[in-house]
Parts: sequence; C-alpha cells; structure tokens
Amino acid sequence: MGIHDEDLQRVKIETDLSGVVSQYVALRKVGQRWSGLCPFHNEKTPSFSVNAEEGFFYCFGCQKSGDAITFVREMEHLDFVGAVEWLANRLGIALRYTDTSDGTNRKERQELTDILEKAADFYHQTLRSGTSAGKVRSYLRSRGFDSETVDQFRIGYAPDKWDALASHLGIPTPKLEAAGLGRPGQRGGPIDFFRDRIMFPVFDTNGAVVGFGGRMLPDGQQPKYKNTPQTRLYDKSKVLYGLHLAKKHIVEADEIVVCEGYTDVIGCFRAGIPRAVATCGTALTDDHVKLMTRFAKRIVIAFDADGAGKAAADRFYGWEDRHNAEVFVAAMPEGADPGQLAEENPSALTDALAAAEPFLSYRINRVLDKSDLSLVEGRARAAADTGAIIAEHPNEVVRDQYLIEVAQKVRIDIEQMRRLVKKPNPTRHQPTPPPGSPPDNSDTQQSTQPPAVPQAELNLLRALVHDPETVTPLALPAMFSNPIAIDAYHLVTTDGWREQIDETPTAATTLIGRVLVEELDADPIELVSRALDAVINRWNTELRYDVHDIEQLRQHQPIVQWLTHRQEEMHSDDTRTAAVEAIVDWLRNQETTGEPDQPSDQNLN
Ligand code: UTP
Ligand code: MN
Repeated sequence: MGIHDEDLQRVKIETDLSGVVSQYVALRKVGQRWSGLCPFHNEKTPSFSVNAEEGFFYCFGCQKSGDAITFVREMEHLDFVGAVEWLANRLGIALRYTDTSDGTNRKERQELTDILEKAADFYHQTLRSGTSAGKVRSYLRSRGFDSETVDQFRIGYAPDKWDALASHLGIPTPKLEAAGLGRPGQRGGPIDFFRDRIMFPVFDTNGAVVGFGGRMLPDGQQPKYKNTPQTRLYDKSKVLYGLHLAKKHIVEADEIVVCEGYTDVIGCFRAGIPRAVATCGTALTDDHVKLMTRFAKRIVIAFDADGAGKAAADRFYGWEDRHNAEVFVAAMPEGADPGQLAEENPSALTDALAAAEPFLSYRINRVLDKSDLSLVEGRARAAADTGAIIAEHPNEVVRDQYLIEVAQKVRIDIEQMRRLVKKPNPTRHQPTPPPGSPPDNSDTQQSTQPPAVPQAELNLLRALVHDPETVTPLALPAMFSNPIAIDAYHLVTTDGWREQIDETPTAATTLIGRVLVEELDADPIELVSRALDAVINRWNTELRYDVHDIEQLRQHQPIVQWLTHRQEEMHSDDTRTAAVEAIVDWLRNQETTGEPDQPSDQNLN
C-alpha cells in the first residue's frame, strides 16, 4: 500500500526538521542553521547541520544529507512508507492509503534491476569478446585475473564511447539515469556514466546487481574509480562488495574480512580466503557493521587501521559495544594491500590474516615494536604511549588485563602503569620516535617554547633540511601553523641559511638545529604527505566553522570530496606522489588567489 500523495505532501510541509532531529541530537543555533554532533558517525566536534527552513540536513563529516524522511528512515531503520507514518503519527495526521503505489514501487525496482542486469551483461560480454577490449584483457591478465575470476565477479568493460551502453539498452534517458548509468547530454541524447573503464558490478546480498565501480585503465582518465551514484537500489553506505559470494564462507568460518577495495576482495578470493568484502568508495558505516554481524561477529580489518589512531579506536570500540562485534586487525606488510599481496605473495596475505589480533593489542604491539626496550628512556616512553592507548578502551577489565601485560614487557611497576592508564588522554600525542633518534625531552620543551610544534610540521622541516631537492618544490608556508615552524621554514628556504643559524640563535634556529641532528627516517614525500594530511584536516575544520548555510556547504562539496580522494591516494605508495603534487598545486593556487579554488581535474565522483 502506498500513501496518498496529498497526505505525503502535508507531512512533508508540516514537519519541522529541527524538532525531529532534536529528539536524537542536541542542537545549537549557529547563525542561520542548527548544529550538533552527527548521529550517523562518531565525532567529537559538531559537523552535523540542519537548515530548518529548507528542511534539509547535512553532515560535513560523513556527508550524509537529506530531508526529514531520510533522517527518520536512517534513525529508525524504516522504509519510506514507515518513515512517513512515523512522522505523520508525530504530527497527528491521519494518512490515507492508495492500494496501487506499492505495486508500482515494486515494479519500478524490478525494472531498475533488469536494466542493471542487462548493463552488467553488456559490460561483461564486451570484456570477454569485444574488439575494443583487447588492451583491457591483457591488462587484467597481467594482474593475474584469469577468466574464471572475470566470470565469477562478472567483471566487464565499458567501451570508450559516449553512449555505448545507452544505445545498447535503448531505454528512455530518465530510466538510464534512475539506474545510475547515464544522464542527458547537451544535445538531448543520453551519455553513459561509465566510459572506458573496467567494470566491477556491485551486488546486493542476494546477488542482484545494484550498481558498479568503474576503474580507469592504467593510462586512463582520472579519477581512479567512479562509483554508481546514490539510486533507489544503490546506497554505498549500506552495500558490501563481494558479500553475495562470501556470505556462506563467512558463516562457515564465523569471520568476515573487510578490505578497502574491489581488487582486494578479488585477491582474497584468489588467495583462498573467500570470506572478504569491501566497502565501495566509502568508510565503514554503522550500517555496514550491522550487516556484517548478521553473518559473523568477528570482523577482521585488512587495511591500514592505525592511521586514524584514536578516531579509529572510538569507531571500533563503538561497534563492539553496539553490535556485539569483535574487531580484529590484520597487520599488512608495510604499504601493501590484500590485492597486491594476492598477486605478489599470497602466503603473506594468508599469514597476515591468520595473525590478526584485537585492535587494542595490535596498537600496543605497534608501539612496542617501534620502541627500544633496552633503554630506560625507550621503556618509559613505551609505557606512556601504550598507557594512553589502553586508556582509550571503554572496558575496565580489558584495560586492566592489557596494562598488566604491558607493565611486564616494559618492566614497570603495575601500580605505576595503572596511573599512566588513568591519566586523562594526553593533549599531545606523538608517535614514538624510532630507535636511534635523539631523546625527545618534549616536556621541558613544551614549557619553554609553547605552543609545541606539531609532529607533522617537525617532520616536514626535517625532510626539508635533509632532502631539499625533493622537498623544497613541495613545501609551502601554508603547510605550517606554528609560528616558530613558519620562521624556520622561511629560514631554511633562504640561500646560505646554514651559515646564518649559528650566528643568530632564535627559537627557529633551535628548531632547525633539532631537525638537523635527527635522521630522515621516512620517505620525504611521505613526510610531505603527512603534513598535507594535517593541512587538509585543518582546512576542513575551518570550513566547518566558516560556512553558515546549506547552499554554501553544497558549493564546497566538490572541493571537499576532491581533497578527500587525494588524501586517500596519499595513503598508497603508487598514488602518493601524484596526489601530493596535486594538493600542493591547489594550495599554491589558494595562496595566490586567497579563495578556496576548484582544482582543475576535480573529482566529482
Ligand atoms: P585503491 O586506490 O586502493 O584501489 O582504492 P584498488 O581497489 O586497490 O585498485 P587497484 O588494485 O589499485 O587496481 C581502494 C578503493 O577505494 C575506492 C574504491 O572502492 C577502491 O576499490 N576508490 C578509490 C574510489 O571510490 N575512488 C577513487 O578514486 C579511488
Ligand atoms: Mn588498493
């Protein structure tokens, strides 16, 4: 049964979105809009805003947006009709129902599914036998994708034409658009959404095609992946790639492996681990976790989970708590992802997954691995760092177990370790320096030169003085926030600075002295990328406070997304350099115009 359209409109008009949202989230008026902590992702500073007049919400952090019906659907896990009923009930509106529209709904969904199935077949056949797909076939073969794999995942190829799929399907453009496969072109005819891309169909739990991820060819058009936009069938925050094939193995093994990308899932299957899934171009959401725990409680994260540190911890512990899941982490060899390992060293992949450990233990071991426990300083540092990490765990018994274990390893009294764990989270948390780097007596330094120079900026300065050829073209004043670091940057980018620093001792020269004696312990580009990471995060935070209405947020959306993708690319070795260069160009451009500018090859994906 469907809802009478007049009643639906009445519910929409009479609903006060800020009132609805207030039932879940404490809202505060900021300028024209309401702001609060996002209910859809875990956060500490408010990113969630509501424009009551427009009846529209938007989260700057997780990019979720919509109207009151969307909001209620998400919060109450209702379908469309259920959400409207919920809102009507709140308003005291008696709904009238029509008996046709549900049937129409189902028919429309079926029609979309048929279109997507036909599209998947078309792409798959094109890859298998199309004359234009020769280069794609050899590329896939070079990556070890045999024809069995291509069939199993129904991998395809979207030809390098404006309307190959559209003309094959011969359906009206609005239908193509509703399926997320095309849009009207300027001349009126339809344009394919995916062109010259390797196509990975995305399936629902039952194996019906709901969308696609399209990967560019090695020399193809950026961005690397294009994904189906939100449609009636496709919601990236709910779908898991590979689940339809993996589910029976997941149930059998009582374990689910979560990867980052399509090729990681396929790699796991090929390496004999058919219980892998991936999100499709988005971070794991609560809905993903809920879906996973329907099949297994033990979730093994097979991507770099440590990068986000405390933020990741909050998310993972939250899932364990809310969804009764157990979050384990598989440490991948430095810089490798499961897809790569499956190609190059499948047994390393199996080993890494078999050695997965609970997230807290994984984080502690990473700190201990990097510590020099033969030195008193190293042990003290390790105790403090692991203490801070243990303190983040919400369960007292778990904290206690870990601290007893760690106290033994770092040879410190248990009571003292307990005090370290109890200490409120340190405001400044720096990674443990590698063995061999000079002792960092940061406590005294903090009191003599406030504010402390952020680690990312120290790293960048270190890279700059040790590898000026590589780093100077990539370093900009905008990458520094600390005034002393800015002075130091200007100094070391001046000719003859090495002579000057001995003559004029200042806070900046002291800082330079320090980074000069430190070793360059990482790839300079990677150090630049970490500094850029911090810049982007800062930029995002500032934007959040500068922007006052939904329209402005929408205007910034392309650049925010562009930056997010570049940020992701900076995390992988083969895309890092290009991403760093792109962001530096963008920053430089911003410095000259003073305006948040659109990058030239923006990724609106
Ligand atoms: P990766 O860049 O790691 O790609 O992105 P990949 O899947 O490992 O592909 P190969 O092995 O290099 O060919 C991981 C995932 O992030 C999403 C996709 O879901 C991808 O599978 N992604 C990445 C996007 O959605 N858009 C992008 O531009 C890049
Ligand atoms: Mn990858």
